[in-house]
Amino acid sequence: MRSLLNITDLSLEELEGLLSTAQDIIANPAKYATACHGKKLATLFFEPSTRTRLSFEAAMLELGGSVLGFSEASSSSAAKGESVADTTRVVGCYADIIAMRHPKEGAPLVAARKAGVPVINAGDGGHNHPTQTLADLLTIRRKKGHFENLTVGLCGDLKFGRTVHSLVGAMARYAGVKFVFISPEELKIPRYIITDELEPRGIPYKEVTDMEEVMGELDILYMTRVQGERFFNEADYIRLRDTYILTPEKLSAAKEDLIVMHPLPRVNEISVAVDDDPRACYFDQVLNGKYMRMALILMLLEVTV
Ligand code: CP
Repeated sequence: MRSLLNITDLSLEELEGLLSTAQDIIANPAKYATACHGKKLATLFFEPSTRTRLSFEAAMLELGGSVLGFSEASSSSAAKGESVADTTRVVGCYADIIAMRHPKEGAPLVAARKAGVPVINAGDGGHNHPTQTLADLLTIRRKKGHFENLTVGLCGDLKFGRTVHSLVGAMARYAGVKFVFISPEELKIPRYIITDELEPRGIPYKEVTDMEEVMGELDILYMTRVQGERFFNEADYIRLRDTYILTPEKLSAAKEDLIVMHPLPRVNEISVAVDDDPRACYFDQVLNGKYMRMALILMLLEVTV
């Protein structure tokens, strides 16, 4: 029985398999419409979500399965003090697979040890968000055609932005990829990502504070929201939240085939005027996320179509 806690739990071959299945689902949706008949997905969301929870639920429904779950901790017995371990052990009696979001880093690992069914990390604190990365990878594959030899700029809250941590883990495995980390000093990428994932493999990276200085170098610009919910000090959040605001004027220095990505939700960091630019891909990511979650559910339930 497999769970997905970190994007690097998947081999490159498995990632290719998921991308291939997702593209087949896009081309032949009817083929998959009853693939998970009789199976149940539980969505246990201890933190708010729009895209991840609803796309997991849409994914299971489009595979012919059923969904159950909760969308906030306060409507579960966690509010009475029940542990993550006990909650997931209980839910494992009702569901065939669990997608779980939790504010504490590592909570899905605890769940996976107790649930008795596959557990998917749908975002754990400021740590990882592997299924957002699946959505991001399908978007990059569909827009750029390849992962190799791309210069990937990641901009905003690189400290708490779990989607960034997972995307770096995935893209670092492809040849010729370079990273440009664009953030204020206080929100730099965690050192362990540099020392454990990039430096030992000689992967080129640089850290800058000015987005416009590097705009012309980038093949991908991955914008992120400053994660106010992870700050200890509201004054710091207010000071930092609008550090980067992408506008059409700033994009004028970018490559013609740049793609602009964002895991969403966006607050101010991308002007709505950018939405009409053909390089804006953030709503493509939303739809691609559903297809990749369908592919992942099939893989973890060992359903063949
Ligand atoms: N990208 C993402 O995780 O969005 P939600 O918080 O709405 O699920």
